[in-house]
Amino acid sequence: MSGTIRLDRLIANLGYGSRNEVQALARNERVLLDGAPIKDAGARIALTPDLPSRLTIDGEPLDPLPGLALMLHKPLGVTCSHKETGPLVYDLLPPRWRRRDPAISTVGRLDKETSGLLLMTDDGALLHQIISPKKNVAKHYLATLARPLRGDEAALFASGTLMLEGETKPLAPAKLDVVSERFARVIVTEGRYHQVRRMFAAVGNHVDALHREQLGGLVLPKELSPGEFKIMNQADIAAIFRDKPPS
Ligand code: URA
Repeated sequence: MSGTIRLDRLIANLGYGSRNEVQALARNERVLLDGAPIKDAGARIALTPDLPSRLTIDGEPLDPLPGLALMLHKPLGVTCSHKETGPLVYDLLPPRWRRRDPAISTVGRLDKETSGLLLMTDDGALLHQIISPKKNVAKHYLATLARPLRGDEAALFASGTLMLEGETKPLAPAKLDVVSERFARVIVTEGRYHQVRRMFAAVGNHVDALHREQLGGLVLPKELSPGEFKIMNQADIAAIFRDKPPS
């Protein structure tokens, strides 16, 4: 993010209100840059990374600038899609963030009954890079199974021949590590609908609980409780692309 932008456009696009409302905020000396009021909301200001710490509205630092990427510990029972019923992952963010333009979207989806690492961003280019099949970003899941593992699942998942019900193209090789009789870690690079649940269904099992632990080399931080999120820094973003696909 660089260059200059009209103050009213920036603040309105961050969800603080309409252009008119933002102009009124400025006129009433509620918008300060380096401690001094900017009364003319039409003024252009430099979009520098330190702007949120220098620009305050009603004494509060400005929200994160566009180019925002965050990791959420998605809890169970919350959906990624407006098409499903129930609370949305967007409800876990500050309400103003829902009015941002560009809007924040989820990077791929997790099922309502899957917990764990979910990325969200307003950066379309970043989003496409992460979900692009070319980047092969590995998704690491911990699955709790209804029945004991048979023993042949790892070989089948790795074979590149496993076919999901209703599909015609076999799955790319995936890695399965047995944790115990009814727990397995699975690493997939594709993102097909309900993929991990359907992979276990294809080998006669059933996933009772599913949790995403890692994306590429980015691990869900232990200190992030379900429902909490953290804004990602450049190192977090770089970590996503560091991991190699399963071999
Ligand atoms: N696979 C699933 O079955 N569900 C998810 O949410 C993610 C991967």
